[in-house]
Amino acid sequence: MTEIASKFYFNYRFFKTVFIVISLFSANTFCFAADAALKNGKLIEETKCYACHAKKSGFSNGDLIYTRSDRKVTSYQRLKAMVAICNSELRLDLFPEDEVDVAQYLNQQFYNFKNN
Ligand code: HEC
Repeated sequence: MTEIASKFYFNYRFFKTVFIVISLFSANTFCFAADAALKNGKLIEETKCYACHAKKSGFSNGDLIYTRSDRKVTSYQRLKAMVAICNSELRLDLFPEDEVDVAQYLNQQFYNFKNN
C-alpha cells in the first residue's frame, strides 16, 4: 500500500471503530435510562399511589383502578393528565420527571397505549 492509501485506510478503520463504540454505548445508555425510569415509576406508584387507590376504589387492590371496566383513562394524554391531577390535588410533590416515569410505568404495565 502507498503511504497515503494506508493512512486513508487507517482513518477509515479508526472512525468506523469509534462510530461502533459510540453507537453501542449510546444504545446501552438508552436502555439503562429507560429501565431506570420504569423502576422509578414503579417505586413511586407502590409507595405513593397504590394504598390510596386500593382504599378509594373499594377493591382493596390498588392495581384494579387502572384496569376497571369504567376506567377514566382512555389515552396516553389522559393518563398523563390523571397522574398530574392525582399529584397536584393530593400534594404528592412529584417532580415533572417523576410524573413522566409513573405515566410510562402505568402505560407499560396496565394501559398499553401506543404513540406516547
Ligand atoms: C389520596 C388518594 C389518592 C392518591 C394518593 C393517588 N390517587 Fe390516583 N386516584 C384516586 C382516586 C379516588 C381515583 C379515582 C378517580 C375517579 O374515579 O374519578 C384515582 C384515579 C387515578 C387514575 C385513573 C385510573 C383510571 O384509569 O380510571 C390514575 C391514572 C391515577 N389515579 C394515578 C395516580 C398516581 C400515579 C398516583 C401517585 C403518584 C395517585 N394516583 C395517587 C386517589 C388517589
